[in-house]
Amino acid sequence: MNKNSDCSIMLDDLFQSSTSSLLLVAVLVLLVLHVFYFRIGAQDQEKEPPGPKPFPLLGNLLQVDLKRLDRSLFDLSKEYGPVFTVYFGLKKVVVLAGYRTVKQALVNHAEEFGDREVTPIFYDFNKGNGIIFSNGETWKEMRRFALTTLRDFGMGKRISETRIIEECRYLMEEFEQYEGKAFNPRKEISYATSNIIAAIMFGKRFEYKDPDFQDMVERDHKSIILTGSASILLYNMFPWLRPFLKNWWDLMKNVEHNIKDTKSILTDLKETLNPEMCRCFIDAFLTRKLNLEESKIENSQYHDENLIYSVINLFAAGSDTTGTSLQWCLLFITKYPHIQDQVQEELSRVVGSRQVQVDDRKDLPYTDAVIHESQRLANIVPMSIPHKTSRDTIFQGYSIKEGTTVFPLLTSVLYDESEWESPRTFNPSHFLDEGGKFIRRDAFMPFSAGRRACLGESLARMELFLFFSFLLQRFRFTPPPGVTEDELDITPVVGFTLNPQPFDLCAVSRQ
Ligand code: HEM
Repeated sequence: MNKNSDCSIMLDDLFQSSTSSLLLVAVLVLLVLHVFYFRIGAQDQEKEPPGPKPFPLLGNLLQVDLKRLDRSLFDLSKEYGPVFTVYFGLKKVVVLAGYRTVKQALVNHAEEFGDREVTPIFYDFNKGNGIIFSNGETWKEMRRFALTTLRDFGMGKRISETRIIEECRYLMEEFEQYEGKAFNPRKEISYATSNIIAAIMFGKRFEYKDPDFQDMVERDHKSIILTGSASILLYNMFPWLRPFLKNWWDLMKNVEHNIKDTKSILTDLKETLNPEMCRCFIDAFLTRKLNLEESKIENSQYHDENLIYSVINLFAAGSDTTGTSLQWCLLFITKYPHIQDQVQEELSRVVGSRQVQVDDRKDLPYTDAVIHESQRLANIVPMSIPHKTSRDTIFQGYSIKEGTTVFPLLTSVLYDESEWESPRTFNPSHFLDEGGKFIRRDAFMPFSAGRRACLGESLARMELFLFFSFLLQRFRFTPPPGVTEDELDITPVVGFTLNPQPFDLCAVSRQ
């Protein structure tokens, strides 16, 4: 028998055995599937989120309304799905839309979607220092320090409650001075909410009439509006436009002024620092810095830039947002007097004329629902603050490269048609069960979610509840004479946050 015949016998043998044939077929099928799977897999991995076709240089700028970007992007999500790409000039942005997708990205893929996109204007603000517009070690250490220190100084605890109630009285006195006549409550409300964060940061509250305090609060408000302006959005896409943009110059003036003010407060506190008795956030930071210096620990994040920008961040993030939300609450209950009736009926029945406390919240489901619904409909941070992917990611079958800008579209969560029964109307029942008990809703996400979620949420929620209930116990809010409830405009002024149009109301004493 020659070699060939040996071989043919072997093959014959193989094919004659049915078991072996089956095995061979199975191996072949697996091989084909393997190749097929990885080809498809590779294609999938390269599949980027879909989106409208971009024009050269301009990208999709002509297909979106920069004055109401969140709405435009929400509309595009209906065409392109919950994960899609848009180009702002050459800048590629992946937009996440709808509760399910935003939650999946920010919570289940927290690490990948948890970096901050430091746009040119954000870099100009803080030069990579502080909490909001930083990343890496700086962010990690500053966020951790801020959270523990805010808690030490009472965030979410009774000490904050006492301070907020004290501030409620100052605010009430301001409202009383108008004796039921029409006024715009915006500034007084901002002063009140700013004083809560000021007490934690600087260890003191300011008089509402103090011109420096007024300046500081007003500057932050203006900066937030300017940051969301169309010209600053353009600057972020085409940074070379900078010298020609008045809004950029105005913003930089505000930044300089904020640094100057913070440094002056810092100097006063340094002179009287007693590490054994910290009075505020700044004292706690300076003490930590001293301790690290004494232990000769290098590469510390505890330097003056991080202190100054963290203070500026917390003050700006903590005051205007809460003040704006409270303004929306008052605007909504003035526009919908039957809802105000029910809040006041509940407050009279449950609390009466005594001082309202945080503990009362569980017995005030309707009041709580009205505050939640105001935050939902007002949607004050509509696109959150931009994120960035920290590494290459496959998300919902799409490939997203490391360093891609991501917009978690909070508008699309708070107005998600598959989550809310009547997303575009003011309906406190969204937060009530059939028996009138308060119900939490997962899609209630005005503070965003995941590792970058708002770190002042518990303080903001306490403030909103106490300020709102306190004011509603004491005042009946009505539109100015000659204006009907229907005429009160709830279309927002669009900035980085959504603010109510300037509005007047009357605060008529109930006592
Ligand atoms: C009703 C009031 C407030 C609202 C609606 C709000 C909302 C938000 C939102 C949407 C973000 C962006 C989260 C993200 O990037 O995904 C944020 C971040 C932040 N908020 Fe708030 N916020 C409020 C009050 C406060 C208060 C009272 C403080 C301070 C005590 C605060 C401090 C911060 C800080 C420091 C960040 C940046 C977090 C980070 O980058 O790690 N906020 N907030």
